[in-house]
Amino acid sequence: MLTAKEIRESFKAFFASKDHFIVPSAPMVVKGDPTLMFTNAGMNQFKDIILGNVPITHPRVADSQKCLRVSGKHNDLEEVGHDTYHHTMFEMLGNWSFGDYFKKEAIGWAWEYLVEVLKIDPERLYATVFEGSKADGLERDNEAASYWEQFLPKERILNGNKKDNFWEMGETGPCGPCSEIHIDIRPEEERKRIPGGELINRDHPQVIEIWNLVFMQFNHKADGSLEPLPNHVIDTGMGFERLCMAIQGKTSNYDTDVFQPIIQAIAKLTGFTYGSDAQKDVAMRVIADHIRTIAFSITDGQLPSNAKAGYVIRRILRRAVRYGYTFLDQREAFLYKLLPALIFTMGEAYPELIAQKTLIEKVMKEEEDSFLRTLENGIRLLDRKIEEAKVKGETVLSGADAFALYDTFGFPLDLTELILRENGMTEDVKGFDAEMQKQKQRARNAAAIETGDWIILKEGESQFVGYDLFECDAVILRYRKIKQKNKELYQIVLDRTPFYAEMGGQVGDSGWLISDGDRVEIIDTKRENNLAVHLVTHLPKEVTAEFTAKIDIEKRIQCECNHTATHLLHEALRQVLGNHVEQKGSFVSPTSLRFDFSHFQKVTDEEIREVERLVNKQIRADLPLEEQRAVPIAEAKKMGAMALFGEKYGEEVRVVKYGSSVELCGGTHIPSTGRIGSLRIIGESSIAAGVRRIEAVTAERAEDFINAQLDTMREIRSLLHNSPNVIQGLKKYIEENAELKKGIEAFIREKVALLKAEIIQRAEEYKGVKIMTFHGESMPDAIKDLAFQIQQQVQGHFIFVGGVIDEGKCSLMVMLSEDLVAEGWSANKLVKEAARHIQGGGGGQAHFAMAGGKNPDGLGIAIRSILDVFKQGI
Ligand code: ALA
Repeated sequence: MLTAKEIRESFKAFFASKDHFIVPSAPMVVKGDPTLMFTNAGMNQFKDIILGNVPITHPRVADSQKCLRVSGKHNDLEEVGHDTYHHTMFEMLGNWSFGDYFKKEAIGWAWEYLVEVLKIDPERLYATVFEGSKADGLERDNEAASYWEQFLPKERILNGNKKDNFWEMGETGPCGPCSEIHIDIRPEEERKRIPGGELINRDHPQVIEIWNLVFMQFNHKADGSLEPLPNHVIDTGMGFERLCMAIQGKTSNYDTDVFQPIIQAIAKLTGFTYGSDAQKDVAMRVIADHIRTIAFSITDGQLPSNAKAGYVIRRILRRAVRYGYTFLDQREAFLYKLLPALIFTMGEAYPELIAQKTLIEKVMKEEEDSFLRTLENGIRLLDRKIEEAKVKGETVLSGADAFALYDTFGFPLDLTELILRENGMTEDVKGFDAEMQKQKQRARNAAAIETGDWIILKEGESQFVGYDLFECDAVILRYRKIKQKNKELYQIVLDRTPFYAEMGGQVGDSGWLISDGDRVEIIDTKRENNLAVHLVTHLPKEVTAEFTAKIDIEKRIQCECNHTATHLLHEALRQVLGNHVEQKGSFVSPTSLRFDFSHFQKVTDEEIREVERLVNKQIRADLPLEEQRAVPIAEAKKMGAMALFGEKYGEEVRVVKYGSSVELCGGTHIPSTGRIGSLRIIGESSIAAGVRRIEAVTAERAEDFINAQLDTMREIRSLLHNSPNVIQGLKKYIEENAELKKGIEAFIREKVALLKAEIIQRAEEYKGVKIMTFHGESMPDAIKDLAFQIQQQVQGHFIFVGGVIDEGKCSLMVMLSEDLVAEGWSANKLVKEAARHIQGGGGGQAHFAMAGGKNPDGLGIAIRSILDVFKQGI
């Protein structure tokens, strides 16, 4: 039996033998494409080639790509675990032709690989072809069908509709008809009883699609029309886990050696056997699937968080925890303990899992712990709601309550339902859905970016000249209108541009587009795939004019200082803290820099000082920039360049070197380190388990930072009457202050003792109750103390009413003896009723209560009214 690893390798070897260039998987987390958060198909990394934006370097390519389908057009999340053949993360084996071979070879080789190399029984295979669409003016794909007829009888070539047999990456972009290969892995008898052809695309777990051959011919535009692509493209994708199932003679992806080690680890950890209970099996599959997604997104640089891609990952992690909690009795963090099993199955093919094991474990455990706390809080809240409902005799939880649990507490709806069912209740599903719709609408309104179609003025590629030039001549290749948060803007692509488009954490350039008498401000430059897109609030008067494109040089140079300083900082951190330091994120703006890296404890003040010292030493050494633009990646690594795991690099990379700091980097940099002036670290914090963040400033900002500190110091010194030794001076003040405080406290104690004696002596007896009052200026806390001392000292029935005036405000308080409380008197009630006279409010307990107010003139009446009520009642 072929192992998963052997199957993966055989695919690559087969297509290498057909002259395909084998490329590594791109990261699963997508950076630099606003239309996509995660890689959802093998073709994503080739989108620019397919659209003709970049030149074709290899017309034939093949790979195995990590994909994730949990958001957007391709979303399988709800199926995962409940069936045996959908996944969040999966590997897609694919081969591509960019303007080279087309349908005939794609179909022929797919057949050859499956039947001749892998020896799949051809009787079990079916093909589907696009049936055509009148609405889109597209005919049946007779060409594909004719090639299939060479291998398959006609009855095993089936027509498919647009939903199944026309492939699109997203709402817009490259697309075309496709032909799917399905396999029937049912036992012989069943196949005789019902022909496989009747079960294609019917969600049968053993009659499933394994390979999709897409014949890309169109670009789907925002206006809905289909525009022919510059070159015909083959894009194929085969589900690796499903292929393993078919080859290994299993009936579930989870029974293959891709998943079994993980499933068995879950069984061992929880004490339940896989295959013994349907619900527990689902939970085990969900967990085995989700742990892959979570681990790989962390290695690819996407930590769970509260927004966008990070939130998607957090939700997947919570889904796994929740299944473990409800069905496998896991009350404590457990996912992170499964990592060794995942590494066992995938660590060899994806070494980043091994390299980043500690980080993945830490992040998972912290996320799990925090979600388990949320779950417990949610359960408590739900219990309370159930109690309230029982009192009122209700049996339905309102949609708003169910939604609040879901939205605020991250509490899954099915768990709410389960707990309600156990208490003989249900929830208002319609109400819940309505709340959900409202929420979605709010999110849509906040996030919506509408883009129009590009208006093409000139064909051609866009060239970045900004490593060498701050300005250049340029013409507009294309532009389009976009609507962002209800504001209309335009995006412009130039044939040549000095504008750096935001990437690798460095913010985009701003500047101007200048032609005769016209000057349009470029407010930002973003990257869309590999294209620099300039953002303007209005178009130039003449869009076809010749322009000078000029960046804001000062802003750029400030950015460059910060970017170069980031490299020096990275190196210094590794020297001071150790080689486990890996970049986890970076943000470089003109004003400051932020660097996130793996490290498992707080960076101490001494370490920070040392890092700063090393960086500043490199700055003073005035190291020149040594930049090489097209270094083969292997050579760059030999030079010792720090490459990031999970980062997508081309075959040739740019190497940025300052002395011993060598990094692969596409950013712009300062010609020599001396220009940075100096670096100051202004913050160190934790942003996730095992990830620290350093914030720093350079150049003028570093001077500003130091000057601000010096100003503070000067002010302190002047407050200390220019004492030559500030520390000594401050210490003296603190000591003196403590002495004075002690003195004042003693003084107050004495005064209160005198006052107390006087109050007790003045007490009036009324129907066997001692009535005591105070009305005057003092500190409320002192009189409160006094009230409690009276309680200690005075025997028998008593009431004390105090009115205190304190700096324009006043307080009213009542203390009652315990026996009066036992008779039903309440200080709380008395104070509350009288508080209106002092325009205030407050309360307390039955024996003591206090209110604050704004009207000291009302104190007399307030005290009297309390005494009147009391005397009348006693
Ligand atoms: N891009 C095609 C798919 O994802 C192959 O199915």
